[in-house]
Amino acid sequence: MSSCAKLCSALLLTATCFLLTAVVDSSEQVTTCDWFPLNIHRLACDHGVIKVDKALYGRSSPLVCTERAPQHSLSNVQCARKDTVETLQKSCDGKSVCEVLINDFRTPDPCVGTFKYLQTNFTCLHAITCVACEESEAHLYCDEEREIFVYGAEFGRRDRRTCSKRRTPQETENIHCQHQTDIVGKRCNGKNSCLIKASHDLFGDPCEGTYKYLEVFYTCIYHGEDPYNTWYID
Ligand SMILES: *[C@@H]1O[C@H](CO)[C@@H](O)[C@H](O)[C@H]1NC(C)=O
Repeated sequence: MSSCAKLCSALLLTATCFLLTAVVDSSEQVTTCDWFPLNIHRLACDHGVIKVDKALYGRSSPLVCTERAPQHSLSNVQCARKDTVETLQKSCDGKSVCEVLINDFRTPDPCVGTFKYLQTNFTCLHAITCVACEESEAHLYCDEEREIFVYGAEFGRRDRRTCSKRRTPQETENIHCQHQTDIVGKRCNGKNSCLIKASHDLFGDPCEGTYKYLEVFYTCIYHGEDPYNTWYID
């Protein structure tokens, strides 16, 4: 258990932090063929948060997404939309789950007549996760030698279970209220300990009537250390 986990569970009833069990980063790959008019490309980490390493919308192999595609549409393997990796990084880095629509990549078409796919290679970085229900405080904490680095934070709701005690069904039914925020990083990065309240005053109200929570994904680094390239053995 991290020091944060002990502290949070001891001091705060509605805020909890835990070090996700995987301490080694894992590499993942997701490929979505461009079949349908509406197509969702979904990245997810069971543990930790997403860091997009590479992404391709187009075609670089004749062997990927071949089903139902005519042969002539597979031969061009030099097709890549330019801004793909930047777009994926912007939408997904620092989140535990992320969905992008393939539609958003289709125009302008990088290679007319080629059957395309979206492929992302990403890493699941280990992270300490801290959850604070609306109106309670999240306490991020590192040991004395290290400082906080926030990968990402979300204020809203993305499942029915989290922070649902003594709440009405209406208050927990909207699970499509994910609102990324950089406020936590701005306030806490570089500090050794940081207290932040999951309140409307600070984060606004992305979905009225829903009981929300703050989720923070962070790590502890030595000063100057690269937070995207650490080995966290607690
Ligand atoms: C992902 O990694 C695999 C294996 O290293 C590689 O063949 C593939 O081209 C990579 N995909 C992208 C989109 O870079």
